[in-house]
Amino acid sequence: MKALVTGGAGFIGSHLCDYLTSQGHQVTVLDDLSTGSKENLAQLAAAPNFEFVEGSILDTALVDKLVGSCDTVFHLAAAVGVHTIVDKPLESLRVNLHGTENVVEAAARHGARIMVASTSEVYGKNDADGLTEDADRILGSPLKSRWSYAAAKGLDELVAYVYGKETGIPTVIVRFFNIVGPRQTGRYGMVVPRFVSQALANEPITVYGDGTQRRCFGSVFDVVPAVVKLMDTPAAYNQAVNLGGMEEISIRGLAERVIELTGSSSTIEYIPYEKAYGEGYEDMRRRMPDTSLAKKLIGYEPTRRLDDIINSIIEAKQA
Ligand SMILES: NC(=O)c1ccc[n+]([C@@H]2O[C@H](COP(=O)([O-])OP(=O)(O)OC[C@H]3O[C@@H](n4cnc5c(N)ncnc54)[C@H](O)[C@@H]3O)[C@@H](O)[C@H]2O)c1
Repeated sequence: MKALVTGGAGFIGSHLCDYLTSQGHQVTVLDDLSTGSKENLAQLAAAPNFEFVEGSILDTALVDKLVGSCDTVFHLAAAVGVHTIVDKPLESLRVNLHGTENVVEAAARHGARIMVASTSEVYGKNDADGLTEDADRILGSPLKSRWSYAAAKGLDELVAYVYGKETGIPTVIVRFFNIVGPRQTGRYGMVVPRFVSQALANEPITVYGDGTQRRCFGSVFDVVPAVVKLMDTPAAYNQAVNLGGMEEISIRGLAERVIELTGSSSTIEYIPYEKAYGEGYEDMRRRMPDTSLAKKLIGYEPTRRLDDIINSIIEAKQA
């Protein structure tokens, strides 16, 4: 495979690059280093089958050139994290809308296979017991910047889907549900690395809201091979596929697990959403994936438990 990984200097993207290069594939990364970093790829710097290009997915000519020299595109570049989206709504929207359109258009022009990274955020406030891929989307007003990420990712899916249908390029949409692991940064609002850093520093763990909201966390080491398998599975083309873990926990419960596993003396501090994210912020009470489609397509079965995931982050932060 000659793969282009957009957003390859980021958290999931860098693990995907490790995996692809270890399998002998040729990998090129396009990343503007806005939330990613070169350190995430330092281990690959000398690899003969790896190349890093610093640039933006908004640069149409560059995207066209790089996509044209690959046969498979893993499109992960995006403005991510609640803080990024709320603090820079216009820039985030441009990257998440126009950037994706650029990448998908180039894939269609060059006949490359493409995987587009989407998110459980597209389900919005739907708190069903196991969200299947055809579940309804329940979103707040598009004028609340909190929902702009979900709105843009929903359109990204549509762009990928329609291009796939009309041009015949193999297209897979992957909806990630709270993926966690080493290299994820807490700086842009990601909860597990933020809690682990606070616990290791014995600082109060700041839980936004009352902590009763429930989530499932998936390991990056489970989802990366799954993404590559889906790209090689024609039955997955032109489908959206959920990927994540099924073990559900409240955010307060997560804070308690992190305190226990780090042996920290941290206390838990509850911060109102308005104080954390500004006026009018809405959260969803629960988000739980149904991953039976991934199981049917590729035999996907998450193997890492939440404690394993938290421990892997603790170890990485202590290294
Ligand atoms: N981590 C999760 O739990 C999760 C959940 C749902 C969806 N996703 C999706 O998975 C993908 C990867 O997310 P991540 O968690 O690794 O985040 P990340 O921030 O670590 O990775 C995103 C990468 O995209 C790069 N980028 C941003 N704008 C760019 C631009 N204009 N041009 C080129 N590169 C640009 C960033 O520098 C970064 O390296 C994203 O599309 C995200 O929406 C992630």
